[in-house]
Amino acid sequence: MHTKRFGRSVFFSRKVKSTSDWAKKLAKMGAEEGTVTVAETQTAGRGRLGREWASPRGGLWFSIVLQPKLKASEAAKLVFVASLAVAEVLHKKFGLRTETKWPNDVQVNGKKICGILAEMNTKGQRVNSIILGIGVNANFADDVLPESVKAHATSIEKELGKKIRLESLLKELLEKMETIYDAYLERGFAPLLEQWKKYAEFLGRIVVIADQEETLNGLALDVDLEGALMLKLEDGTRRRILVGDLVFAEP
Ligand code: BTN
Repeated sequence: MHTKRFGRSVFFSRKVKSTSDWAKKLAKMGAEEGTVTVAETQTAGRGRLGREWASPRGGLWFSIVLQPKLKASEAAKLVFVASLAVAEVLHKKFGLRTETKWPNDVQVNGKKICGILAEMNTKGQRVNSIILGIGVNANFADDVLPESVKAHATSIEKELGKKIRLESLLKELLEKMETIYDAYLERGFAPLLEQWKKYAEFLGRIVVIADQEETLNGLALDVDLEGALMLKLEDGTRRRILVGDLVFAEP
């Protein structure tokens, strides 16, 4: 692997509760930046907003320990590092027409192919470690997924009509992530965001933002340098949304 830190230590298991919990434990025990945990299946895979994450065999379920010298607000933008890396690798190496979906999903043909979960451990304003958990629906047909997920999800196997080598996908992703991560630490968020926006096909479209409290309909105008989504609501007012859950509006 052509990396300096990412994936220098990789811990593999057939079955774990969650690769992110495992990575968190390793980080507490002093694991180095770039340590990766990967599992064939997860029995308690976690998604954003406390959701369950279905993790059947054939998917790529992994987490990576990062220890950036950043404030918490800057470290939160690392989800863009991961989603850009996944969008680029699946596009450039595997030929899929990927889109990034704010804040941190990757889609193909309007359906989710990858989800990213960032969990931070902070000391005051500073970050001790951040665990990026990445789930790629790879080598399974979408019918193995739970009914509630199936309608909005796809997989590499479904899109390409064939299976891929998970080891190659992991290697490509770690290489790309390290390159983008180092560039972010060196040059800041603006160039990363520019790249990310090339895949952001939701911009300029009517979207629905739903979080636990409210649901908003509006035109997705832009993503700003804080990583926030700028939305123009139906009454013409603008809203800046820092976290939420975006789904495309029904036509
Ligand atoms: C989401 O879209 O809600 C985020 C899903 C993140 C899933 C990955 S799979 C590897 C890692 N381990 C977990 O328990 N979750 C993340």
